[in-house]
Amino acid sequence: MSVKPLLAAFRDYLSLRDEPVMREWLDGFGWNLSERNLVPKPAAASRHLAAAGDCAGRAEAALLAALSEFSGRLNWMQMYTAEDFGQDFLDDYAHVELIGPEGHFMSEEIAAGLVVYGPGLDYPDHWHVAEEIYIPLTHDGLWSADGAPLAARKAGSFIFHQSNMRHAIRAGSAPLVALWVWRNGDLRQKADY
Ligand SMILES: [Fe+2]
Repeated sequence: MSVKPLLAAFRDYLSLRDEPVMREWLDGFGWNLSERNLVPKPAAASRHLAAAGDCAGRAEAALLAALSEFSGRLNWMQMYTAEDFGQDFLDDYAHVELIGPEGHFMSEEIAAGLVVYGPGLDYPDHWHVAEEIYIPLTHDGLWSADGAPLAARKAGSFIFHQSNMRHAIRAGSAPLVALWVWRNGDLRQKADY
């Protein structure tokens, strides 16, 4: 079943962002992408989406609502196994590759999608070759880059990680949902930590 309306919401949201890095990455990006017929794969962490809606930013609410609506059709993925950060981590984290080499919409140019973390989830320092943009859709999350202390970043904040810059994330008392984009690296890489 198609998830094109979710791609449309994703594109609509990004079209309103005017950060230079975002514009450099996406101006001229060909959004007319081929959709794969991916089998839906559930993830335990998607149970947090309903509560996440209560702490979404105003500008981010429509995209989060679309994610909730289409969650049951999505191929939820996990970069890690229980041997990495434990089973509790896997029960409270999952991401969707909406666009990318393995995503719902094919691209070798960028990978992009959405990720959900349950309340209090601690995602320790990790890094990868690709450059990365994060935009939290919800308030209350804590973010760290390049060894800096964790700091609260509101919904709609623009977070950019250079290649191989380590970064860490911790959800607050509410679920944390974020948009992510990768470019300029192996888009299939598992992050190091
Ligand atoms: Fe990352």
